[in-house]
Amino acid sequence: MFKTLALLALATLTTQAQYNEPYRPQYHFSPKTNWTNDPNGLVFFDGEYHLFYQYNPQGDTWGHMSWGHAVSPDLIHWQELPVALPEENGVMIFTGSTVVDEHNTSGFCTEGKACLVAVYTGHTPKSGASPTLQTQNLAWSNDRGRTWTKFAANPVLDLRMSDFRDPHVFWHPGSRRWIMAVALPDEHKILFYGAPDLKHWSKLSEFGPAGATSGQWECPTLVEVPVDGSSTRTRFVLKIGLNPGALQGGSGEQYFVGAFDGTKFTSDNPPATTLWTDYGKDCYCALVFNGLPRNQTPVMLGWLNNWQYAAKVPTSPWRGQMTVPRQLGLKTTPAGLRLVQQPAAGLSSLRGDRFTWSGQNVQELNTALQAKAGDSYELQSTITLGDAQKVEWKLLAAGNAWTTVGYDKAKGELYVDRTHSGNTGFSKDFPARITAPLPAPATGILKLRILVDRSTVEVFAQDGLVAMTDLAYPPAGANNLELVTAGPAPRRVEVEFWPLTSAWRR
Ligand code: FRU
Repeated sequence: MFKTLALLALATLTTQAQYNEPYRPQYHFSPKTNWTNDPNGLVFFDGEYHLFYQYNPQGDTWGHMSWGHAVSPDLIHWQELPVALPEENGVMIFTGSTVVDEHNTSGFCTEGKACLVAVYTGHTPKSGASPTLQTQNLAWSNDRGRTWTKFAANPVLDLRMSDFRDPHVFWHPGSRRWIMAVALPDEHKILFYGAPDLKHWSKLSEFGPAGATSGQWECPTLVEVPVDGSSTRTRFVLKIGLNPGALQGGSGEQYFVGAFDGTKFTSDNPPATTLWTDYGKDCYCALVFNGLPRNQTPVMLGWLNNWQYAAKVPTSPWRGQMTVPRQLGLKTTPAGLRLVQQPAAGLSSLRGDRFTWSGQNVQELNTALQAKAGDSYELQSTITLGDAQKVEWKLLAAGNAWTTVGYDKAKGELYVDRTHSGNTGFSKDFPARITAPLPAPATGILKLRILVDRSTVEVFAQDGLVAMTDLAYPPAGANNLELVTAGPAPRRVEVEFWPLTSAWRR
């Protein structure tokens, strides 16, 4: 009895120490140890959310790519499980999807129950005279994702190509078949395939080149998204990763809004229109969850990093983390339909005591905030700008270090400035003032929702119309937070602030 209790206490202490290292995000998923990049196979099944992810079981840089695995009851508290799909016989497991095969179309499910089927890219590196080969493959699980079997007749799709990857697969009820969107990175094309059984794929159509094409296209995701909160009006969003050459340098993501008829995706906009899902530097290869109950808002989650410096970020014993899960919508704007993102509702379960303030005396606000300082929190501000020219939140601040989230009215620009954020010297591409266009709001009201988590900053402006996701590595104890304004004071400032407790402390 005492021995069991002592072991339990030790396990708890170990978990707490493991998730409390410098820079370790407290409510974002990161693996206990080692390297991660893209999220993979996001799926909700039998009351659990599954997060698979590109994982190196052997080290904290890219290599031996396998699917790591974590599960959660609420998208916020994650439990890491053993590696789901390991590299085998020199074939790495690259990015892909997991689907719930409700009606056993694949023949993999047993006992008349639904099973999970993963569709992933098998990557065989170049060896001697044989060039790199990327093909699409299957694996299945009949025990809620705990153990997996790779299909003996893999691959199920092979174009004998070196760059052909990242299948996004979902069930299309209208055409009663599985649809796969998969990238031809160098051609800047997304190919669409259909299959009745996940095994026999026939080509349906192609999309691209369009939008931004300065790097490889990777990680396509096609998702049906409600328009203006309607439960009946929807439009499709095709999201595509671009690396390098994205808006802020290195990797980033663009999207197209349009129609999908079960065969072909048609964009609403001319091919030259380029829309970005996130204006920060650090959101890549986001995926949406399959298997969500019908009528539930789509939820997306990405890798919170950038290939420019992902291998150099100063964290240990892990490298790489995910964004918070985000609910997606489309909003009608004068320029057309635009993606809106908001943190998933479950995040509010981590909120501690709420602090609110409203008024005009910013100094008074800052004095009140001093006592609230911290490094993992949610901050919402609604600022009636009046004649104010610039408003800036200085976060994760101490002495000479701070990170700024600001708005410049004259320039019509939202920005995250991390040039003085602390440890920035590990890559020339890291220190940056990162900007997003945001014209002065017609209402005169600037709304910011900011999530800070030790080394991550996610900004959702104007109810999620502009998202910016950025890393920062502040010195220990850089917990100050203040509002700085330039020009005349804003007419009114309303603030809500919650410390967010650690999702790793149970
Ligand atoms: C994107 C990516 C994918 C690939 C995976 C390999 O970050 O390059 O295209 O499947 O990472 O780890």
